Amino acid sequence: VEVATSILSRLEAAWRRSDVLFAMLAPEALLVQPIPLRQPFIFYIGHLPAFAWNQVARGLLGRPSFEAAFDALFERGIDPHDVDRHDAATPWPPLPAVLAYRDRCREALRGAIEDVQARAGTDVLAERGRIFALVLEHERMHHETLLYMVQQLAADRKRKPSDWPAPRLGRGAASTRIAVPRGEATLGAAFDALPFGWDNEFPERRADVPAFAIDSCPVTNGAWAAFAEAGGYETRRFWTDEDWEWKERADLHAPAFWAGTPGRWRCRGLFDEWPLETVEDWPVYVSAAEARAYAASRDARLPTEAEFHRAAFGAPEGRERPFPWGDAAPGPAHGNFGGREGGPVPVGTCPSGASAWGVHELIGNGWEWTSTPFAPFPGFAPYVRTYAGYSQDFFDGRHLVLKGASWATDDVFVRRSFRNWFQPHYPYVFAKFRCVWPA
Ligand SMILES: [Fe+2]
Repeated sequence: VEVATSILSRLEAAWRRSDVLFAMLAPEALLVQPIPLRQPFIFYIGHLPAFAWNQVARGLLGRPSFEAAFDALFERGIDPHDVDRHDAATPWPPLPAVLAYRDRCREALRGAIEDVQARAGTDVLAERGRIFALVLEHERMHHETLLYMVQQLAADRKRKPSDWPAPRLGRGAASTRIAVPRGEATLGAAFDALPFGWDNEFPERRADVPAFAIDSCPVTNGAWAAFAEAGGYETRRFWTDEDWEWKERADLHAPAFWAGTPGRWRCRGLFDEWPLETVEDWPVYVSAAEARAYAASRDARLPTEAEFHRAAFGAPEGRERPFPWGDAAPGPAHGNFGGREGGPVPVGTCPSGASAWGVHELIGNGWEWTSTPFAPFPGFAPYVRTYAGYSQDFFDGRHLVLKGASWATDDVFVRRSFRNWFQPHYPYVFAKFRCVWPA
């Protein structure tokens, strides 16, 4: 009971955060879809409680629906590669009805702890309160998704909270090339080693990683401006066929996070825009397609998932670390994650978060693209029977693994085995990158 009760208090905190995030929207923004292949905001107001209810009460406990139409309508979000499944001619339910449904779902969850606990001995999802951890992490993941949707929303449709953190401008650290010797990296985790993990994190897998060299800091806005102004977007040989075709079709000449014109770029934050010169040392947020074109321009490539692990968690003395900085639980001293800042910060300005090799901010300040397609580890099992498609639906060779965390990523995701994934042509994620070379 203790485990589930503590998770429920964290869930209450996540719900408060959800309410704060939705309060950033002007009322007329609820039906807006700032990213065309995502649902309008109203969907997410219903989706978070519907998901929790569908998992815990319907899925695990087998309780009957009290509002079956909403359970179905708000059940699943959409991946960027899907078409919009909601019939545009059908109006969304009015907000008060969605809020009433939300409150009823939350109340049902509060009342479900003991019943879930009673099944802990016979149900892997009830054991250690896993189903509550799943619901909590789902809610926290959507907070970041919401923030990157708000990022794309027009300024007059959102409201900056009065306590929103001031931006950190100024200079960062210069990037150097760091040699990482050959060694083993541990990906994933043993099922019993974590109180909760998603199916794709299991089981543990060991990889032999040849020596390589890696940027000590991610690529910055300033470096990106030099690439763009030197014709990087127009140099055919930097781009794969597929990436070039996408870039041409999208008529892309700068990152999705930028506005303005060459020489007069502005970088867009969640609520404000800055002349690029003032945020030159922030990491640049780009799609994987753009990232690999940049890498090609430097005769480099993106790191593999195993190389990321070796750079982040490996150490010269041999023993791998749980976190790049060592054993300490993740906190503000270790990097820009957990929503403490309101956006990126200059690269390399949190040296206490660096890895044993001196590679900076592998966790925090932006997710990091890898070149590794999202795929199961050998021995993968979709153990979350109530959400069996969570990972499996995306083992399609069209998504790449991202590691680390962004400024908007909750601390709960800062664990070695956590894996994120997106399509290489999805440009809206708070995702940065760095280059690697052969040793
Ligand atoms: Fe979801």
